[in-house]
Amino acid sequence: KAFKVIAIDGGAASGKSSTSKRLAEELNLLHVDTGAHYRAVAYACQQAGIAPTDAISLKHFLSQLVLRSHVVGRESYISFNDQPPPGPELLRSENINRCVSPYAALPVVRETVKAYQRGQVDIAKRSGFDGIVMDGRDIGTVILPEAEVKVFLVADTSTREKRRVHEGGVDAIADRDKTDSSRSVAPLRPAEDAVVIDNSDLSLEEVVDKILQIIRA
Ligand code: C5P
Repeated sequence: KAFKVIAIDGGAASGKSSTSKRLAEELNLLHVDTGAHYRAVAYACQQAGIAPTDAISLKHFLSQLVLRSHVVGRESYISFNDQPPPGPELLRSENINRCVSPYAALPVVRETVKAYQRGQVDIAKRSGFDGIVMDGRDIGTVILPEAEVKVFLVADTSTREKRRVHEGGVDAIADRDKTDSSRSVAPLRPAEDAVVIDNSDLSLEEVVDKILQIIRA
């Protein structure tokens, strides 16, 4: 059985995570939420008091930053510098929502995270999964250009804002999308060979079924 490589990209609150988790269950894949990697690096930098504008300290800090993966069930969690993996209360806080995109726009941050993310494929293989599904912004374009199936999820802004309000907390999703789409390195955009799915009026089941059909075709 061939190892499956699936890329799910899209803007903030576009439904990437829920969709990817369900695909992972259906197909026995390792799920990797790559937004969490940028959130963890932003959190580590904030903890160390290093602003995204402080290029010299940032470079030094990143060169010493130790990133590790922890596979629990079908999820891959990230930890840094031998601390326990930070939970959603830390990674999805208002503070991190606000500062993650400026860090994620920096080439030095993206290089660090990219090496870690490429390593996830081997982890999935060694852990006996039938494949990997990664969700993010540049998975189809930069991280897994070899993915056999690439999906780009879109949804109306009002639908996305409702989803975030349900999750609680403050998140300026339109601002994050603007920063993420306009950066010069690995901007948010669909790969040329990606299938674009608008899920504004679709249930999670319907989206997952559509993607399963694409994978099986
Ligand atoms: O997916 P999530 O909303 O948790 O991502 C948080 C932030 O991490 C994004 O707004 C973006 O700045 C960055 N990110 C990225 N590339 C990815 C995934 C996330 O730049 N592949």
